Formats: sequence, structure tokens, C-alpha cells
Amino acid sequence: MDSIHIRGGNALFGETKIQGSKNAVLPILAAALLIEDVCVLENCPRISDVHHMLMLLERIGCRVARSDRTITVDARNVSEDTVSGENVTGMRSSIMLLGAMLGRVGEITMAYPGGCVIGERPIDLHLSALGRMGVKIYEDEGCFTAKAQKLEGSVISLPISSVGVTENVILAAVRAKGVTVLQNAAKEPEIGALCEFLREAGAVIEGIGGSVLIIQGGHELHGVRFRIPADRIVAGTYLMGVLGAGGHIFLEDAPVAQMQSTLRAAELAGAEINVSRDGLSVMIDVEKRAVPMIKTEVYPGFPTDMQSLLMAALTTAPGVSVIEETVFENRFRIVEQLRKMGACIELQGKRQAVIVGVDLLLGCEVTADELRGGAALVIAGCMAEGETIVKNRHFIERGYEDICRDFQNLGVNIYTG
Ligand code: UD1
Repeated sequence: MDSIHIRGGNALFGETKIQGSKNAVLPILAAALLIEDVCVLENCPRISDVHHMLMLLERIGCRVARSDRTITVDARNVSEDTVSGENVTGMRSSIMLLGAMLGRVGEITMAYPGGCVIGERPIDLHLSALGRMGVKIYEDEGCFTAKAQKLEGSVISLPISSVGVTENVILAAVRAKGVTVLQNAAKEPEIGALCEFLREAGAVIEGIGGSVLIIQGGHELHGVRFRIPADRIVAGTYLMGVLGAGGHIFLEDAPVAQMQSTLRAAELAGAEINVSRDGLSVMIDVEKRAVPMIKTEVYPGFPTDMQSLLMAALTTAPGVSVIEETVFENRFRIVEQLRKMGACIELQGKRQAVIVGVDLLLGCEVTADELRGGAALVIAGCMAEGETIVKNRHFIERGYEDICRDFQNLGVNIYTG
């Protein structure tokens, strides 16, 4: 129960289609709250985080309908401004409701959000950025209320380029009075997707894709039909799978333009990559190589979400690879699990991992304790001789529609248990 079984040790061959992006669909679902109309979102991934977000929208008063990967949100009626419970505490992205509800009704009471155990993940920057727009915060036990008499556009300079804070400011600013200038905004492609969605709905946002966003608040918003882009981290997962286990795969719809730093890292490690209009072909023809140093960075740098996936693939790359984590301080939690499988990884403080390539990994029982680390253990299972059982599948289901189906498409003997 709640596990994934893999009989590994074989190269990957085949093709699979890349699902819609988790980190794009979640803020866009929150943004639908700002629109007193009906929005239709296509290509939504069927993942548990989306399910939790839909439950929250329903609790707030939206009508939500789902048919396969198309989600309809009717936000003409908003009747509740308090959200709590597992849907909030189990998912970091519930924090997106903060900006959206402030924009829509000027107030929200919510439990502190949760999410993966990959670091402190405080919300101080969300609160201080919104504070610049006239929002007051009242804290209570386990929850807080954010209230704005009048949401005002402002000049906000972020001390770090936080993805979530950038998104929350955008959500509040499109309904605020006046212009908001957001400096040092994060540039992750999912922020671009959120801005495009809002623009199509009637919002006026300039500077999309750059580090300064200018948002003119108060424009009337109307319902739209919007397609969620493909997930660059899911595509990167299967890319790292073939880098680890060898073979030749095709990733249909992989969002290549957003994956440049991941592709560069894979090429450094020996992958041969060919890009076509329909996706990405990855082949491991020569022996893999260690990567002397790779650092996680904000976009367009190497994504922190790809870090553990790359680490798993490099465990059998001859030579010494070094990975430095600069975004989250607690993202090396899978090291112990990979060691159980025979990997040789040395941690130098909380930020640096030194990986000495071993000849092979051996399957055993390992435990996932967060989303991407869990997927990395599945990659390790594909690489390992014998059977690997990855426990706590539910963490992986937060972000992957069906990781077993996708790896089966690539020829892996993998199934849920
Ligand atoms: C988003 C992504 C997540 C990704 C991360 C970094 C979604 C749903 N999640 O998470 O997959 O790993 O970006 O690319 O899009 N910080 C503070 N105070 C705050 C907010 C953030 O100190 O109030 C710190 C965090 O602890 C972290 C850094 O800022 O060290 C970056 O975090 P942030 O960009 O906010 O990540 P998320 O939006 O939570």
C-alpha cells in the first residue's frame, strides 16, 4: 500500500507525453477566484495538489467541474473567507489564496500553509510584500487573518526573488487601486503563465518574463479558456531517468525552451539531446560522466526542484560530482535513502553534496518524504539491480499524474503496491 515497486537495472526505451505543469496550474486556479465569471482550464494535471486546491475553491464558494484534464471554475459567488484543515496545511500553494482573496474580497483567515519538508519555508516575505499594499496581518493560534481596507498599488522590491511572493503580489495587484511596480520579481516560467492567463482575462501587466513587473490594477476581468503549459520538472524527471539508467527516450510536449539549464547539465553528464517541434529526444550513447559542480539557482539557473533527480542519476557516473543547493536548506534528505541503495554521497554542511560514482545501485526498500525526492528514488529504482520499493507514494502523487504509467511507457517494470 502507498508504495511503488520497480524491477530496475535495464535501459529505458520508448516515449511518453508530458503532463500539464503543477506549479503553473496552482496559482492559475487561485487566480480564477479574482474573476467574477467562468474560466475553463485545459491540460490540468490530475495530481493531488490540484485536487486539494479545487476543494479549497469549493469551500470558498466557487463551483468547480472537472472532465478529464479540463477544469471549469465558476467564481461568480464567493461566500467564505476562512480556509483551514488539511487542504491548507498539507500544501504550500494554499498560500496563493492569500493574494487572490485579498484581491477579491479584501480579507482572508487561513491556517499556516504546509508542503514539502524541504526547509523552513516561512511566509514572512508574502506578508511584508502585501503589507506594502495596505494589508494588515492579525495572528492567532495556528492561523492568521489578512485584511485590507483598500488594496493600493505600490512599489515593492523583493529581498529575494521568491516565486510564491511574486505570484501573490501579482494576484493582489491586478485588483488593487493604482499601479504596482514589483522589483526583483522571480522569473520562473510559471509566473509568465499566470501573467498570460490574467492578461487574457483583461489584466494589464507589463514586463512579463523579466525581473520588473508593472501591474495596472482595477481593470475589469472576464472569464477565459486557457491551456496549462507542460511541466518542465516532470519532463526533467524522465530525462534524469534515462541519464541514470541509459537508453533512448522521447518526451512529447517537453517544454524545451524552459529547460535549458537542465539540458545543459544532462549534456555535461553525457546525454545526447535532440530537440524537435514535438518534444525532446534523449540518448545515452557514451558512458555517463560526473559533473564537477552544479549549483541550484533561481530561473534561468538550474532548478532546485531538479536537484535530487540529478543527484540520483549521478550516483553511478564515474568520477566525482558536486551539487550545491542555494535555494532551500533542507533538500538533501534523500541522501540517506540513496546510500541504502549503495550510493556514495558525502554531505558538506547543509548546502553541498559530493557524489562519488559507484558501479551500480542495489534495489531495497526506501522511503520518500517529499515530492521530488520521492521521484528521485523512483529514478534510483529504475537504475538499481533487483527490486526497489519506494514507500510513501502519496508524496509523489502531489506532482506526478502517474509516474508508473510514464516509466512503463519507457519500458520500466514498475507498478504501484
Ligand atoms: C516555488 C515552487 C517550488 C520551487 C520553488 C523554488 C510552486 C507551487 N512551488 O515554491 O516547487 O521549489 O518555488 O523554485 O510554484 N522564502 C522566505 N520567506 C517567504 C517566502 C520564501 O524566506 O515568505 C524563502 C524560502 O524559504 C526559500 C526561498 O525563499 O529559501 C525561495 O522560495 P520560493 O521561491 O518562495 O518558493 P515557493 O514559492 O514556496
